[in-house]
Amino acid sequence: MEDIKRIRIVDLLNDGESLVGKKVDVKGWVRTRRGNKNVQFVALNDGSTIKNLQIVFDLANFSEEDLKPITTGASIHVQGELVASQGKGQSVEILAQELEIYGTASVEDYPLQKKGHTLEFLREKAHLRPRTNTFGAVLRIRHALAFAVHKFFNDKGFYYFHTPLITASDCEGAGAMFQVTTLDVENPPRTEDGNVDYSQDFFGKHASLTVSGQLEGELGATALGCIYTFGPTFRAENSNTPRHLSEFWMIEPEMSFYEIADNMDLAEEFIKYCIKYALEHCADDIQFLNDMFDKELIERLHFVINNDFVRLSYTEGIKILEESGQKFEFPVYWGVDLASEHERYLVEQHFKKPVILTDYPKEIKAFYMKLNDDGKTVRAMDVLFPKIGEIIGGSQREENYDKLVGRIEKLGIPMKDMWWYLDTRRFGTVPHSGFGLGFERLILFVTGMQNIRDVIPFPRYPKNCEF
Ligand code: 4AD
Ligand code: MG
Repeated sequence: MEDIKRIRIVDLLNDGESLVGKKVDVKGWVRTRRGNKNVQFVALNDGSTIKNLQIVFDLANFSEEDLKPITTGASIHVQGELVASQGKGQSVEILAQELEIYGTASVEDYPLQKKGHTLEFLREKAHLRPRTNTFGAVLRIRHALAFAVHKFFNDKGFYYFHTPLITASDCEGAGAMFQVTTLDVENPPRTEDGNVDYSQDFFGKHASLTVSGQLEGELGATALGCIYTFGPTFRAENSNTPRHLSEFWMIEPEMSFYEIADNMDLAEEFIKYCIKYALEHCADDIQFLNDMFDKELIERLHFVINNDFVRLSYTEGIKILEESGQKFEFPVYWGVDLASEHERYLVEQHFKKPVILTDYPKEIKAFYMKLNDDGKTVRAMDVLFPKIGEIIGGSQREENYDKLVGRIEKLGIPMKDMWWYLDTRRFGTVPHSGFGLGFERLILFVTGMQNIRDVIPFPRYPKNCEF
């Protein structure tokens, strides 16, 4: 084949007019082939866009034998003249002159044949599903959102701060941690009183995968001013829901000198920025998902960008739920940890808008949250979204050393593990705040997908660690 530079399909379709009449070079995977004895049409996709490029094979130049290996899933390399398309649905197409077949995909074995597959089926083929239209779209949107996260914070002067994935502390105190050990689990060394002797373990102590980078993030914020983390997070909760993963990605900004209201402002601005970025940069993919799965998707995205989030206290929220006359599966009373059905009632039925709920009872929130003057509630904030429920959890932090130690003692958190965290309050303590955005929950919202297992390439959930 002639040595000309390969061009991506997205670039051909966007700027192709200027290349009409020229010879171009494309590579990709075959989506479909159809046609008759005189001419065959191949829809080629190279992952750069949801759109396929049409390649026209004139059977005057190719034999049926040449084209036989071009089945769905095969990978090919084509050179030919770019021409204005005769057919509808595309502006340009290629008249093939040369063909190279990289790899075939047998019709009997390749699982992604033309017909539409269910998302459940595709979850079992997660190693191949990125090749489908749906997952191509979701994964390009995922990439764009990751990029938007970095751009948003970098433009604001926040520093990307890397917190450890292996840790000896339990940030959320939920105890849902995956242990990291090199001890022989069949026969671990024991102390005299019969407990496992972690002093002989790899790190010389009991270690786990992190459930949050926040505590170390606070160390960064009380030095650099404003930081954010963006990394994988692990939770060993046995939650088989469409909104939980055992391994998910979280973005955790942490800001010195921010009070709770500043924290809410940032959270709202941040989410709106990410959604807007996706709408601008992934228009084709979002349109595809809108048309295929969720006809109100684009409308909903614009609605969230264009409306202020409602802000109200947990106490007010409970009142609305109690007075709603709704029959909930889990009863509502002051002090209860809100279930998804409660959150969604407030957002979807009552306000019909995203809601930021603040000032939760201290008993249902983590130890590090700042106590309000009422002595009963803490300066927590959860951002609740339509279809998703909680998308962000955050708070102003308790900066007072004595109050924080009081909470730690009350909850029975081993103080010796927390000395380094408490040093932020012993030396130059400052008011500060932060939050965590579940990256996959944001992607769920932006793509309109229903199940969190479909917005990460290789989902991890109870009883599943395939691929
Ligand atoms: O509310 P969470 O547990 O808050 C924290 O971890 C704080 N340390 C954050 C902070 O203040 N820096 O989790 C934050 C968010 C949730 O709102 C949710 O979006 C997401 O993380 N999340 C999960 N996403 C997928 N699967 C799970 N199992 C999740 N658990 C939490
Ligand atoms: Mg939470």
